[in-house]
Amino acid sequence: MSINFATLRNEFPMLAHRVDGKPIYYLDSANTSHKPNCVIDSMARFMRESYSPIGRSSYRLAADASTAYEGARGKVARFINARSSREVVFTKNATESLNMVVQSWGRANLGEGDAIVLTHMEHHANIVPWQMLAKEKGFEIRWVPLTSDFQLDLSSLDQLLRGAKAFAFTSMSNVLGTINPVNELCAAAHAAGAVAIVDGCQSVPHMATDVQQWNADMLAFSSHKMCGPTGVGVLWAREELLDAMPPFLGGGGMISEVRLDDFTCAELPHKFEAGTPAIVEVIGLGAAVDFLSQVGMSEVRRHEIDLVNYAYRALTERYGDDITIHGPTNPELRGATFSFAFRDVHPHDVSQVLDQHNVYVRAGHHCAKPLMRIIGANATARASMYLYSNESDVDALVEALGDVSTIF
Ligand SMILES: Cc1ncc(COP(=O)(O)O)c(C=O)c1O
Repeated sequence: MSINFATLRNEFPMLAHRVDGKPIYYLDSANTSHKPNCVIDSMARFMRESYSPIGRSSYRLAADASTAYEGARGKVARFINARSSREVVFTKNATESLNMVVQSWGRANLGEGDAIVLTHMEHHANIVPWQMLAKEKGFEIRWVPLTSDFQLDLSSLDQLLRGAKAFAFTSMSNVLGTINPVNELCAAAHAAGAVAIVDGCQSVPHMATDVQQWNADMLAFSSHKMCGPTGVGVLWAREELLDAMPPFLGGGGMISEVRLDDFTCAELPHKFEAGTPAIVEVIGLGAAVDFLSQVGMSEVRRHEIDLVNYAYRALTERYGDDITIHGPTNPELRGATFSFAFRDVHPHDVSQVLDQHNVYVRAGHHCAKPLMRIIGANATARASMYLYSNESDVDALVEALGDVSTIF
């Protein structure tokens, strides 16, 4: 049964919200996504009817809350095809997941004389934590450059990976929309004996994820970009790796025993979940995963490819050389995220004029300053779409850009 995306949009109450009595056109989904009723309702229902601590108290309500929380973990595990829910750790967001990788796995495995490989299209969350540890430990960071058509230049990858202990890369650029060949990158990492760490923030919400088929070692992503609430992220890692990794944060929930002179860790994945977790938000993420699974991730991807085609044509036919889209032209190689330059108008001015038309895009460096320097821009305007976006969002953008032309 094919999905009716027009009806599906009605499930997102924020999209019916009006500003100054006029509709809004939300084109900032790479930043954060809107939430469907089922997610909002699941969280409200849980707080109204089932709220209780998890993992600590043994009364029935608390046991039910623990079951719901662990149920959400199982949903996430199935969504990414993890071997077991023991491999799914809940964090605060993808940034915390990546910091956990660096501070736990990195601190235990990297030292002077070692090297890791990143790419020129990483988000700061997959750069700065490594730089912080590299300053302390003295290992080398190597970089995979870009081709002129905004792909990763893999021509020297084997050489870059020689002797490296980790290769950490994004599965989809949050600036360029480029979709990276995750299977190939994981295989190259393994051939060199390196651990393959995927920043899945931009791809997990938009296309099917199968960590086993990828043959990845670790994956980080955020709930709030995939129809779930803020405050929850996920770190998935192969069980053997998690088993060998030291805990990241210490405290309640992550121990099996504590004495005055020592402690022992709890079983996976609790070893990495110190303190009271975001119980309500995890329940919400579980509902988001149910929602996306019902739609079907291949349907989401198909819808977004249609939008990419529509937006590309609409923007370039109307504005020609006045618009420069930084990213691959082939819709099969990109997500529905368009970073662009419009004439020589500053992206902040572009976004301000668009805002007057209730067209919401992000302007700035998108937390990817090294990439911005490489593509020769201080900032870009970025319009990014999701499963609830439609052609009227694109039409509104195209029309409002006409006003930018008039003003500047
Ligand atoms: C590719 C990528 N990685 C990491 C992050 C960080 O995600 P969060 O801010 O949810 O931790 C983002 C957020 O925009 C992103 O796009």
